[in-house]
Amino acid sequence: MGIHKAVIPAAGLGTRFLPATKAQPKEMIPLIDTPTIQLIVEEAVTSGIDDLLVVIGRDKGSIEDHFDRAPELEEFLREKGKTDLLMVVQDVSRIAADIHFIRQKIPMGLGHAVLAARRHIGREPFGVLLGDDVMTGPTPVLRQLIDKWRSGLSVVAVQEVPVDEASRYGIVFGKSLADGTIQVDSLLEKPPVHLVGERPLAVMGRYVLDPAVFSALSDVAPGAGGEIQLTDALDVLAHQGQLIAVPFRGTRFDVGEKFGFVKATIAAALNRADLRDDVLSYLRQILDQPE
Ligand code: UTP
Repeated sequence: MGIHKAVIPAAGLGTRFLPATKAQPKEMIPLIDTPTIQLIVEEAVTSGIDDLLVVIGRDKGSIEDHFDRAPELEEFLREKGKTDLLMVVQDVSRIAADIHFIRQKIPMGLGHAVLAARRHIGREPFGVLLGDDVMTGPTPVLRQLIDKWRSGLSVVAVQEVPVDEASRYGIVFGKSLADGTIQVDSLLEKPPVHLVGERPLAVMGRYVLDPAVFSALSDVAPGAGGEIQLTDALDVLAHQGQLIAVPFRGTRFDVGEKFGFVKATIAAALNRADLRDDVLSYLRQILDQPE
């Protein structure tokens, strides 16, 4: 069985981005002109996913609207002869996947959001892409995980992080395998620095999960703040020998955090032919000015 379904948890409150997230989902905040959730949906589709379930919370209706048709806007653009923009608008609603939405009624953590997808996913392995993590790379990161996945296993994306930053992440521990992956023995969420080792590998927001994760999630007790943590369920799978970690090729931007968002915006601008030269010359100009 291949992997063709994926879940995008997007029901968090986005408190690190207040006041922007007071009345709009953080996943709709754009990098230049493209909402981050659209970039994530595109990564899923180019990874081979054709069935997406977005877990949304209160006031997240604009995410549904974004992927729907916009007849009045389309008519307006057509009348004005703005065919390029018309195509841009229509392309979003023609994304080559079925996009479903489900409500997580109370934001009780990432694990709880994944558990909300149980009925839709059924007994199939599935991808998970966090709305907070924008990834760029030679091959879509979810695809890199799917390529290493084997039936019965779950897979997490990892990247080495500096020792003094490791306490901000979930860190995997295990042994390296011949194919470059890691057989994970255990997983610790935000461990103290003396436990992280010399080359800590941090979990980043892409996963391929076996449906066994749902029973692990139902069994884990709520942790800090009453939230159900995905990490705790993954640790159960790791102890059963069913979790591997894949060091991925590419760059990850934590767009749920302010500096990460600024870095992602600069990188996105430098990657665009219509902006690159202007942005570069502006950056040179302000860097040349005395502080
Ligand atoms: P975060 O903890 O980064 O998101 O969750 P948050 O809670 O919205 O952010 P802050 O800390 O308040 O700023 C990682 C991902 O899990 C989703 C979020 O939407 C985000 O994509 N999530 C989190 C849920 O879907 N439901 C939850 O209950 C919590």
